[in-house]
Amino acid sequence: MANEDSYNWTHKDLLDTKELSQEDLQHLLDLAAQFQVINKRPVKKVPTLKGKTVILFFVEDSTRTKTSFDVAAKRLSADTFALGRSGSSLNKGESLKDTGLTLQAMNPDVIVIRHSSSGAAEYLAKLLPASIVNGGDGWHAHPTQALLDTFSLRQAWSNNFFGKTLLILGDIAHSRVARSNIQLLRKLGVNIRLCAPRTLLPAGVEHWPVEVYPELASAVRDVDAVMCLRLQLERQQAGLLPDLSEYSRRFCLDQKHLGLAAPDVRVLHPGPMNRGLEIASSVADSPHCLVLDQVAAGVAVRMAVLFLLTQCREGRKNAPD
Ligand code: CP
Repeated sequence: MANEDSYNWTHKDLLDTKELSQEDLQHLLDLAAQFQVINKRPVKKVPTLKGKTVILFFVEDSTRTKTSFDVAAKRLSADTFALGRSGSSLNKGESLKDTGLTLQAMNPDVIVIRHSSSGAAEYLAKLLPASIVNGGDGWHAHPTQALLDTFSLRQAWSNNFFGKTLLILGDIAHSRVARSNIQLLRKLGVNIRLCAPRTLLPAGVEHWPVEVYPELASAVRDVDAVMCLRLQLERQQAGLLPDLSEYSRRFCLDQKHLGLAAPDVRVLHPGPMNRGLEIASSVADSPHCLVLDQVAAGVAVRMAVLFLLTQCREGRKNAPD
């Protein structure tokens, strides 16, 4: 447990995993573990954020991130309001700046934003006094996803990260999840392998702190965890993948390939899954797969994030009992 007496969360916003120190990370994950205990009680609501307002500003579609932030805020007794592109004045051409200023005028404590443009969360963070949480911006970052993935692995690995090996498999070029996870898990001493077709590797990957494998059979050998990524067809230019059946033949995580990994290998997927394309249904439904643990972890981690951004600015440090 981080030292409660000397620790101070100093961040107004959560935009990227880059900005988190080891101490921030340790404290946030310890706090999430306390909230996870509360989430398993028959009565899950605590009054910690009573009177606070959290706006969920999701300009891109989401099931997990949006719902779990909503559940997290409500479990802490905050009021939540949701705004998306559909049904809002964004559809009439209102700019991000004017929408942000309009939301700020209602005096929220936290705005969670998901946007298709990299940098949208940082733009609002500089513009507005409210705490901004990046719920995923373009290809850039998805910090709470990386935090919940780390929380899930911490439980699976009994908090022993150093020297473990994680394979990230699939559409890495378009993945904010991969970028945020690599930043966070490297800080904890996890070795990262990447495996993808050449057209789905990011430009400049040779400068990333990872090993790149062109073939799944060699990439998956002896790894402790595999993170499958969704093929993000909506972000891809035409021609990156000529044939989906060829992609799935070479890069789908199936039982045969999983058998080459460590015996107690864990499988993660941020969701939504394309079963049969990047992950076989039998793997998604196997005991190795942490997908639903990741969703549960998402609520606890997002409770910790909302708590730190609001209460710690007011001098409270401990989670409620
Ligand atoms: N992992 C994730 O961001 O899922 P959603 O798009 O459903 O929020």
